[in-house]
Amino acid sequence: MTLKHITITGGKPLYGQIKIQGSKNAALPILTSCILGNGVCRIDNCPCISDVDVTLRMLKTAGCRVSRGGSTVTVDASQITCCEVPENEASRIRSSILFLGALTGRCRTASLPFPGGCAIGERPVNLHIGALEKLGVCFEDTGRLEADGRGLRGARVTLPFPSVGATENVILAAVLAPGKTLIQNAALEPEIDELCEFLNLRGARTVRKPDGSILIEGVRTLGPVRYSIKPDRIVAGTYLFAAAAAGGKIRICGLPAAGLENPLAVLKKMGMKITAENSFCEIDSPGIIRAVPYLETAPYPGFPTDLQSPLLAALSEARGESLIRERIFENRFRVVPELIRMGAKIKEEKDCVRICGSQSLHGASVAATDLRSGAALVIAGLAARGATKVGGLEYIERGYENICRDLSLLGAEISLSDGVLAEEMPRKV
Ligand code: UD1
Repeated sequence: MTLKHITITGGKPLYGQIKIQGSKNAALPILTSCILGNGVCRIDNCPCISDVDVTLRMLKTAGCRVSRGGSTVTVDASQITCCEVPENEASRIRSSILFLGALTGRCRTASLPFPGGCAIGERPVNLHIGALEKLGVCFEDTGRLEADGRGLRGARVTLPFPSVGATENVILAAVLAPGKTLIQNAALEPEIDELCEFLNLRGARTVRKPDGSILIEGVRTLGPVRYSIKPDRIVAGTYLFAAAAAGGKIRICGLPAAGLENPLAVLKKMGMKITAENSFCEIDSPGIIRAVPYLETAPYPGFPTDLQSPLLAALSEARGESLIRERIFENRFRVVPELIRMGAKIKEEKDCVRICGSQSLHGASVAATDLRSGAALVIAGLAARGATKVGGLEYIERGYENICRDLSLLGAEISLSDGVLAEEMPRKV
């Protein structure tokens, strides 16, 4: 069996400038929210990634008319004909759970299988269900998520943890619910505010209050809109860590630093020169990386769990010891054995890893186990001496439009090749 993989010849610094694709974590809820109203939504700068493809197929199954030309997608949800989300699609992506709030809001009923997605942790849905129950939605225990939303109405919801997905699900259900909803301890991620901005342009009434809670006043209908998705801060962060690891100087255009404050502060501590303006962000890497004595991932505005694996790859080339604690997803360290295969000196200790930066990464044949581990292995390959093959491309394609194109533009020697499975290749241990 042949599978595509990425081939990288490492050791080349990155130079140049790049524009970043639209945000995955904004596009997925925004596309799903199209279900809520009549009329055509035209969405520009929608990333060409497989998670978007799956979402568009689920929208079609629900009865939406969907068309796509490059990065522009149109969704016409005038007629919703099916409130059942098929198992084969929902099991592919975690964000399929957002169809629960969207379908319940629009049709007052929804039937979904439990969601899939990257195997980065147990990823339960108790917070989604508990919050929707507060809004008057009833669930039947059938092995699927069967929602009866006939009693849907505004309410006060206090999330025990600021879950991104649960916050989005409450917003989606509450926008068309009679009365007012207040979400306390709502997630603060910028993609939540982008979803609210999109919905407000369609006639919804949502507002983020100074204490971070979100107030939603239910409206009867939502109208059409034209909207452009903002750049992906995680993709931008990936390329910044790539430049830190490989050396060089790159500029990320069209990206306000808002949303990346914490990773930029960490990069500065790592010895990088960062210039962040309203419309661009630049990193100048001296080629020597300082270790990070201690860092833990946290909900926004903390260090994002999605950039933890890219950070590990860069710290493998640092001078000194770093200790990184993962506090969001328990299986985010599956990249560690692959980095070790490339010469990294990393020890796992419960929810922490200790990285002894040794500047000794070498090329190897490795495989991604989830989206961000794939990005981390590409970064390690750019910094390593020799050739690296990264398998598991299907994970990388879930979130990166074309990582090879982007990094080639920055001078990396990286390409997509057909070949044998990474697992079948001789491994350098
Ligand atoms: C979203 C992002 C993902 C990011 C994550 C954390 C999208 C499409 N995905 O995922 O890229 O890594 O936020 O920033 O936007 N939890 C529960 N019960 C629940 C829901 C969540 O215990 O019902 C736990 C999770 O297991 C995890 C934590 O809460 O430990 C955070 O999850 P959550 O914020 O919901 O992440 P996602 O929305 O799945």
